Amino acid sequence: MGLKLIYEGKSKLVYDVGGDELILEFKDDVTAMDGLYKSSVVGKGVLNARVSAYLFELVERAGVRTHYLSYDGGRRLLVRKLSMIPLEVIVRNYAYGSLLKRMPLYKQLQKLEPPIIEFHYKDDSLHDPLIIAEDALAVGLLTKEELNHIIKTTLKINEVLSNVFKERGLKLVDMKVEFGRAKDGELLLADEITGDSFRVLDGNGDHLDKEVFRKTKDVNLMIKAYVKLCKALGLDVSDVVSG
Ligand SMILES: Nc1ncnc2c1ncn2[C@@H]1O[C@H](COP(=O)(O)OP(=O)(O)O)[C@@H](O)[C@H]1O
Ligand SMILES: [Mg+2]
Repeated sequence: MGLKLIYEGKSKLVYDVGGDELILEFKDDVTAMDGLYKSSVVGKGVLNARVSAYLFELVERAGVRTHYLSYDGGRRLLVRKLSMIPLEVIVRNYAYGSLLKRMPLYKQLQKLEPPIIEFHYKDDSLHDPLIIAEDALAVGLLTKEELNHIIKTTLKINEVLSNVFKERGLKLVDMKVEFGRAKDGELLLADEITGDSFRVLDGNGDHLDKEVFRKTKDVNLMIKAYVKLCKALGLDVSDVVSG
């Protein structure tokens, strides 16, 4: 079956492979500020595909239903084709980033107990505006049942990943997840789980995520952080970097 490119996003290419499956190919491109800053670095695509595959398998084992089917060992994941809900669901364990701007009483990296969930309407041209759950219901983006499922599932994913990271000496600050509906209506975790979609700190308080690029605009520093993340998770990256 031939590959048909159906979408090129900021970080991935999406190919239709026929049937109910898609290939997500992780690009080497790096963007920040909704695409205002753009760069590229060899290895990023492989590292992000590998981290995604590993973490999708991990949350699946914990009982979370995801779009993940298989990983080719390179830059491609085979996934189930979904009808995406245009929401970025953010879960925050520590105050950081845009949260500090919208609520100035938080101190940076203050622990949020319980975690805070935010919904953003996914639209780059509008800078993914923050919305409240009622907005999403009122315009029919999802049903109340789906909303409850998404909140419950996001908290579960956050708990599973926070625990795994903690065992590896890492701290999950926050993460963004996306969901889509399968043909039968089932909601599945979709998109990616990578340093582009979460913030994670190592034991020294250093970022092993895209924050390195947002702060320094240096893709080489960022790729070093991504390699560290892979190694901390026990992933073999000897095909990407030496040493
Ligand atoms: N299982 C899936 N089925 C259909 N679309 C998906 C699936 N998983 C992710 N997507 C979508 O594919 C695109 C992936 O490319 P990406 O570079 O992340 O795009 P964007 O710049 O729009 O975020 C996203 O729009 C994402 O919502
Ligand atoms: Mg994306």
